[in-house]
Amino acid sequence: MQKIKMMVAAACLCAGMAALGVEFSLGVGAYEGRAAFKELRIADASGKVVYSNDFASPDAVRDWKSAGRGEWRCGGGTLEQTFGGLGHEAVTLSIPQKFRNVTLTVKAKKIDGKEGFIVATGKNLISGGGEWVIFGGWVNQFHGIEQPPFAIKRVPGSIAQGRWYDVKVECMDDRIRAWLDGSLVMESRTVVDTSGRPAAVVPVKDAKARKYSPMIFGQFIEHHDRQVYGGLFWPGHPLSDEDGFRKDVIEALREIKVPIVRWPGGCFVSAYHWKYGVGPKRQPMWDKAWEVEDPNTFGTDEYVKWCRKVGCEPYICTNAGSGSEEEMSDWVEYCNLNVGKWGRQRIANGYPQPHNVLYWSVGNENWGGWEMGAKTVAQWGPLVRESAKMMRGADRKIYLLAAATPNESWTLPLLKTAGYLLDYVSIHDYYGGGPNQRPYLEWMMQTSRPEETIVQTIGILEKAGFGGGKIGIAFDEWNMRGWYHPRGRNGRMDHAARRKNDIASLYNMSDAVFTANFLNACLRHCEVVKMACFSPVVNTRGAVFVHDKGIVKRTTYHVFWMYTHLLQPNIVPVSVDCGNLSNGRGVVPVLDAVLTASDDGKSRVLAVVNKSPDKAVPFDISAIAARSASAPYQATVLSGTSTDDYNDIGAESRVVPVKSVFAVKDGKVLLPPHSIVCLEL
Ligand code: AHR
Repeated sequence: MQKIKMMVAAACLCAGMAALGVEFSLGVGAYEGRAAFKELRIADASGKVVYSNDFASPDAVRDWKSAGRGEWRCGGGTLEQTFGGLGHEAVTLSIPQKFRNVTLTVKAKKIDGKEGFIVATGKNLISGGGEWVIFGGWVNQFHGIEQPPFAIKRVPGSIAQGRWYDVKVECMDDRIRAWLDGSLVMESRTVVDTSGRPAAVVPVKDAKARKYSPMIFGQFIEHHDRQVYGGLFWPGHPLSDEDGFRKDVIEALREIKVPIVRWPGGCFVSAYHWKYGVGPKRQPMWDKAWEVEDPNTFGTDEYVKWCRKVGCEPYICTNAGSGSEEEMSDWVEYCNLNVGKWGRQRIANGYPQPHNVLYWSVGNENWGGWEMGAKTVAQWGPLVRESAKMMRGADRKIYLLAAATPNESWTLPLLKTAGYLLDYVSIHDYYGGGPNQRPYLEWMMQTSRPEETIVQTIGILEKAGFGGGKIGIAFDEWNMRGWYHPRGRNGRMDHAARRKNDIASLYNMSDAVFTANFLNACLRHCEVVKMACFSPVVNTRGAVFVHDKGIVKRTTYHVFWMYTHLLQPNIVPVSVDCGNLSNGRGVVPVLDAVLTASDDGKSRVLAVVNKSPDKAVPFDISAIAARSASAPYQATVLSGTSTDDYNDIGAESRVVPVKSVFAVKDGKVLLPPHSIVCLEL
């Protein structure tokens, strides 16, 4: 059983929060061209006009602030930027006062030049980007909301010359939104930290509860460094069982109810021939991906046996690099049939009952240049189709996946050619790498990326006619940290360097917060995301670190424990209004929450992540709370004393889930910084 400490939170709800907000310097302008404007209005949140300018005479903009080499003519109802000899340069003219939470409307016309027009929202850097909304930027190919030093949002779009557009730009504390001729074209959070401001969760009107697949709590294991050998498989070790499996690992994985484990790779599989890894005479092989000898003593039979002991589904990823369609379907025969050459071979190897492996993937990242036997777009669809036909010919009840990406140019042709034979597309992502620690906030700036990838992939599935979950997404390799496996000066794998993955202090609260955030993204899109595999399950970047004397459950392990033990089985759609967390370059919402409910709707648990390193966030849950009373809520919290907290040999329980009681004041609970909270509503 998971150890849970009892704690009563002395939660103090700060009544008077300091006002957090953004002041905008508003204006108009153009980049590499000329533009005209008329009927400028600025209204506050209630719609009251707080500033207006009809550009009646030059005096109308006499006190406006000019930036760049612009020459402006004002009068007769229009403001025109008249200097046409511009290079890579913007000119803007801004109102000499600041505005907060307002909407600017203006009519704008491109007169000539390479680009469209600009609504300035802040600093006006002459060249190299400013804080503005640009319509028809990047040589009239994109609209963008730019907040230096990075363009935060960019969408395809252009501006026609010589016609008036209705432009609307909403500038709020937390976001900027832009409309053209009445259509919302883009929106972006403001690159300003407002993370401590009070937040709230509300139900999404008329949205129905949906069941999610527990397969999203899956894991991955690869023949890489000490994941299999010297990890979960350690024959002769006092902590191992009669099959050579580490018992402490099995027990730890059973505790987090691991539903599925993908094997044997990863890059490893694209030159792996399973036939050398079964039967009494194992043939060691040279692993071309990781450049070591693999003894082949842990093969298909050992893997399936291990999965059964863990209580999870086996999921085999096949060799679509140097392997063939036939080798893949022989593998299905070996595992699932009692007849034919390969089914009989398994029986002869001492396994009379079929292994009954239901999940099979055609290939791993075969789109990547690093992958052994990488394929071209033109090769991939037909190879998947023919492999799938043969694999299904061996066993009709299997679920089939194929290596894909969130990139249309690869995945659309795949779906067109082989989609009718697939149950899932397999996608992967890691969000940073290296052997050293990165600042916590830098990691937090990555937390919106998984959901962006999911949404992109859903778009491709819909375009191909497989939307709504007809084909699911298996995010079957993911982790905040990419594995560290550099090459040495001689170009060969540097095996010693890989041990830097073992540095315990790397795996702190940033990993846990990211992990919960990732799982929330899968839960929100549960009608399509039906599987995910954390990569890997033990050692390297895994949730469990295995050593000679025992194991360490890293911070991420406890997120899986909380999600598999505390959440209810259905997702109730909610929307969260919260401040921004920013490191001055990127921006993400400070909170991420999902609401889960039992089938009868009576038990509900809110899983909420506060990414702030140092601020407790008051969170108004009254709109989803079943009761109005101010009685405290039971909760389980994973947090730690600082963002840097980690578990280690000798300090195994520094970060563990803690039972807690949350006080409620004015409908709000106080979410601790860098925390994951499961709140029983
Ligand atoms: O770094 C680990 C590798 O990452 C996996 O083998 C592969 O699938 C992914 O590219």
